[in-house]
Amino acid sequence: MPTPLSLDLAYISELVSEADITAMAPEVLDALKSLLNHTGRGSDYLGWINLPFDAEKQVAEIKKAAKKFSSCESVVSVGIGGSYLGIKATIEALGGSDKIHYAGNHLSPTSFNKLMKDLNPKKTGIVVISKSGTTTEPAVAFRILKTWVEKAVGKKKAKGLIVAVTDASKGALKALADHEGFQTFVIPDDVGGRYSVLTPVGLLAIAAAGYDIAGLLKGAQAAAKDTQSHDLPNNLSARYAAARFLLYKKGKLTEVLANFRPELHYVSEWWKQLFGESEGKEGQGLFPASVDLTTDLHSMGQYLQEGRRNLLETMIWVAKEEKDIAIPKDKDDREGLNFLAGKKLSWVNEQAMKGTAAAHRDGGLPVIRLTLDEISEYSLGYLYYFFEMACGISGTLLGINPFDQPGVEAYKKNMFALLGKKGYEALTAELKAKGV
Ligand code: PA5
Repeated sequence: MPTPLSLDLAYISELVSEADITAMAPEVLDALKSLLNHTGRGSDYLGWINLPFDAEKQVAEIKKAAKKFSSCESVVSVGIGGSYLGIKATIEALGGSDKIHYAGNHLSPTSFNKLMKDLNPKKTGIVVISKSGTTTEPAVAFRILKTWVEKAVGKKKAKGLIVAVTDASKGALKALADHEGFQTFVIPDDVGGRYSVLTPVGLLAIAAAGYDIAGLLKGAQAAAKDTQSHDLPNNLSARYAAARFLLYKKGKLTEVLANFRPELHYVSEWWKQLFGESEGKEGQGLFPASVDLTTDLHSMGQYLQEGRRNLLETMIWVAKEEKDIAIPKDKDDREGLNFLAGKKLSWVNEQAMKGTAAAHRDGGLPVIRLTLDEISEYSLGYLYYFFEMACGISGTLLGINPFDQPGVEAYKKNMFALLGKKGYEALTAELKAKGV
C-alpha cells in the first residue's frame, strides 16, 4: 500500500543529528515493543493498535446507519474531546459538510440558540457520542436537542432519527438509549476517547457527511503496517517520536504544529488533544500548540521567529491541491504583481512554506517537516495512525501512561460540586469555604 507521508529531519540537525536518532534506537524499539506486546503502562487501552483492521467489519453497518439520515437536512453530532475532534477534523479537511453540525462541545446558550435557529427540528437527526456516557456538556446538549426534535416530530419519529455511540454496558447514555430504544454503536472498552476516531465515534458522522470511511481505514491500515515495523530508520512514527523527545530533552518544551491549509485547522485541534492529554502528566510533556499559516505569520510569526527559544515546530505541508488557481495578469499592474502572473497559487504557498521553514530554522526554531501527498480519506487515515503510534512511543519514552487522563477529573469534580450534583456536598462546602 502506498505511503502518503514523508518526514524530513534536516531542519533540526543543528540540535538533533541522525546519529543522535540512531543512538535512541534501542529505547525507541523497547517502547514500540512494549506497545505491541501490551507490556507497558496503560496496556488496557491499546485497542487502537489493531483498530484499522478490526473496524473494517463494521463499515457496512455504519454506512447503513448513516443512510437513515439521508432524509434529514441536517445531523447534529453531539460530543466533546475525543468524541468530537476527530469527526470535525476529518470532515473539515475533506471539504466540510453543510449537513453535519456540532453540539455538546461547549456550554454557551448563544451558540446553542443559533444552532437551533439555523436548523429545522422536523428534518434534523442526532448522533450522540459519549464513551463514559456521563460527560456534562454532551449530556445537557442531548437533552435539549432531543426535547426540541421530539416536540417537532413526536417521540416515535424522533427515535428513528437518533443514534447513540457509547460504552457497551456502562454509563447514563447507554441506559437512556436502551430505555428509549435508540440504535446504538459501541465504543470498545480498550480504546480511549482521543484514539477513537476510527471507531463508530468518528466513522458514523463522517459517513453521514458522505465521506469514504473505508478509505480512511485503508490509510490507517497502511500506517499500521509501516509504523509497527522494527525497521526503525523507515518507521516514521518512531523517527518523529525520537526527534521530538530529543528536542524536548534539549529544552524545547512547546511543539507548534503548523499547517498551510486552513482546512487542516481541526486536524491540529485533534492532534493537540492527542498529545496534550497523552503526555501532559506527572509534570512532563511538550505543550502542544498550533498555528494556521500563512494566516498566523501575521499574528504569531514574530514570536515564532524571535520569541523564547523553547519551541519546536512541526510543519505539515500538503503536496497536491485538488484544483489550483493561476494568478491573472493585469494590464495596469498597479500592485506590481505581474511578476507572478500565470503562476499557480499553490506554488506561491509552497515558496511561503519553504521561506518560513528556512527563516525559522535560521532563527533557532527547529522544524520537523511532514509532507502529506494530498488530503484524502486515505492520507488522513494514515496521518491519524502515524500520530497515534508516535504518541504511544513518545509517552512511553517519557515514562508516563499515555492512555489515561486523570487530570481532567479535577475540574469536573469542582463543576459537579458547584452544580449541586448529589454526592458532591462535601466538595461544595470546601469550595465555598475557599471563596470559589
Ligand atoms: O480523550 C478523552 O478521554 C476525553 O477527552 C474524552 O474524549 C472527552 O472528555 C469526552 O468523553 P466522553 O466520550 O466520555 O463523553
